[in-house]
Amino acid sequence: MIGVETEVAKRNAAYRAVDIVLERGYKLIGVGTGSTVEKFIEELSKRLGAREGVLFVPSSISTALLLRREGFRVLDASTVDFVEVYVDGADEVSEDGSMIKGGGAAMTLEKILAYSSLFNVFIVDYTKKVKRLGERHPLPVEVVPQALNIVLRKLKSMGLEADVRVSGRGKYGPVVSDLGGVIVDVRVPEKADLNELSETIESIPGVVSTGFFKGFTDLLIVGYSDRVEE
Ligand code: 5RP
Repeated sequence: MIGVETEVAKRNAAYRAVDIVLERGYKLIGVGTGSTVEKFIEELSKRLGAREGVLFVPSSISTALLLRREGFRVLDASTVDFVEVYVDGADEVSEDGSMIKGGGAAMTLEKILAYSSLFNVFIVDYTKKVKRLGERHPLPVEVVPQALNIVLRKLKSMGLEADVRVSGRGKYGPVVSDLGGVIVDVRVPEKADLNELSETIESIPGVVSTGFFKGFTDLLIVGYSDRVEE
């Protein structure tokens, strides 16, 4: 369960990102998915006066709906070829700024937007910092539904533990991303080189992407209950 302290830490990180976006006057803003990003959107909405001239590119339908609710103008990613800044959260962050993402099943579009962005800001609460990526979260893998059994068999033949993510304890079936992919959670073996593992998994036909992000972090803002660290 998320405690009050974690909520405040997320808010502190999100508010600092709002400072930066406003100071730098970005006009084309990519936006990730998750509870920390929601705080970013809500605070930006309070502090950004005129909406005109500022455009947002969301990484998920849930983020698009929240942006629209706050009166922001939203563009589909297919209509842009870059964003000036991209702001997103993460599930785990290592010392070198590499991350596991995809807790919200949105990592494919998140990675595309981070790739397209001129400047990436990641906002996390202090609980997301880890010594070893994969120590608390599995590696999410988005798979084309038709390839699911073939990919699962391949992952298992590689000695990996892989489970199809389900919603409502399986009552509502597999979790399907906004892009139509099924999410498979792969347990990261303790000694694994995650960069190599992710590349191998992404080379399997039918795999769209993994939630391993490396080399995207321009600025990491870590929120605590009483401060932020950058
Ligand atoms: C969604 C993500 C999120 O950034 C990640 O799950 C963190 O979420 P939160 O801010 O709610 O802790 O990768 O796909």
